Amino acid sequence: MAISSVAAIREAIGVIESELGPVRAPLGMVLGSGLGGLASQVESPRTLSYDRIPHIPSSTVQGHAGTLVVGTWQGRDVIVLSGRVHRYEGHDLSRVVLPIQLLGGLGVHTLIVTNAAGAVNSDYRPGDLMALSDHLNLQCGNPLMGANDERIGPRFPDMTTAYSRELRTLTLKIAAEQGLRVHEGVYAGVLGPAYETPAEIRMLRAMGADAVGMSTVPEVIAARHMGMEVLGLSCLTNMGAGLGGETLNHAEVKEVAGAATEGMIGLIAAVAQTMPPIAVRDEYRSRFTTQLLI
Ligand code: HPA
Repeated sequence: MAISSVAAIREAIGVIESELGPVRAPLGMVLGSGLGGLASQVESPRTLSYDRIPHIPSSTVQGHAGTLVVGTWQGRDVIVLSGRVHRYEGHDLSRVVLPIQLLGGLGVHTLIVTNAAGAVNSDYRPGDLMALSDHLNLQCGNPLMGANDERIGPRFPDMTTAYSRELRTLTLKIAAEQGLRVHEGVYAGVLGPAYETPAEIRMLRAMGADAVGMSTVPEVIAARHMGMEVLGLSCLTNMGAGLGGETLNHAEVKEVAGAATEGMIGLIAAVAQTMPPIAVRDEYRSRFTTQLLI
């Protein structure tokens, strides 16, 4: 059952601001498997566990902390979602994207979404990174299904430029300067939780995918629905099934993600420092929060 989103967003934001005080940050980040280390770098952190926030389902996956962290990072005011929930955990997609809608409702302008993914493009290597240029929604559903509320976004949101070209170009430029292997490619978002078969990996490649993972796509749809700019980054933790010759397991995914974390965090840090100034979107914030502007 889909929940009433505007009411849910307002109630959840009300709890966040009554626990943490007013939250104003133009930059939001979602940290995927093994990438939670960035959250510990946030200065003057104010944190709230997901289980304290109404309507947000708690993550059940190892490596996903499930904490909202508000503070400053690289000189920017940020809200970090450390850990995410996935559709394969059994949650309705409208609940999976609620944390993203909270960021939108708090006025976040730009969202950086990270994930761990398998490489479908055989030119890629484990440990490489990929800036998402586009995605394939293969999660058998859309988070915007059901009645639409125009206060959140339009009925038929455009997805032509789901991922900001400007932020991606900046990311690739910085990656080249830092000597990091960062590709630009298409992310296939599948349901999971079983990893793919080798035949499915070949199918995904034929469909135009460069990487595959079990998250991100619903989040980006929800973010674009609310007009946020999005940068998507994958850490390629393994070759897709059948491409590397070995079987896949989550421990390996976490290990490679952990090893690549430093490079990924360094890259995001440089992007956060270098990207143009962004401001909290008060027109969105005022729809979902009753706190006076500060
Ligand atoms: N497939 C799907 N999701 C993933 C993979 C994979 O190979 N690696 C990390 N997340």
